[in-house]
Amino acid sequence: MKIALGCDHAGLPLMEHVRTWLTDAGHELVDFGTHTLESVDYTDFAHKVAQTVAAGDADRGVVICGTGLGVSYTVNRYKGIRGALCTDTYLAKMARMHNNANVLAMGARVIGAGVAEDIVQAFFNTEFEGGRHERRVNKIDEDCV
Ligand code: RB5
Repeated sequence: MKIALGCDHAGLPLMEHVRTWLTDAGHELVDFGTHTLESVDYTDFAHKVAQTVAAGDADRGVVICGTGLGVSYTVNRYKGIRGALCTDTYLAKMARMHNNANVLAMGARVIGAGVAEDIVQAFFNTEFEGGRHERRVNKIDEDCV
């Protein structure tokens, strides 16, 4: 899979792990940074990930900030993007099975690396169930004003 990555300074320590896990799993990465601990605006990186996935230039995305909230608000402004803020593996699995989520958001100040690794595994190894869920997922964008 081709996966777009974006984080702010608060998300960087966890993103370093995510980059390793996804590379080791054989994924191709489009890494928008940030790459230093200098304070930056999470929006600048989340927008790039959302635009890349929405354009079809990446299959999925991962966005990380301190809480995961700011990056998830940002990516979910885009049609075709379903950003899932996950704090456990149940959410990650259900975000894929029922919502066909295409961007994973996490909070580096909320969860540890061990939980994050399980979330990443669940998110990238769980298939969408389709069926009635496809109709509902389509309505997210169709019924949006
Ligand atoms: C940065 O301090 C923090 O506000 C940011 O990473 C994120 O948590 C915002 O939602």
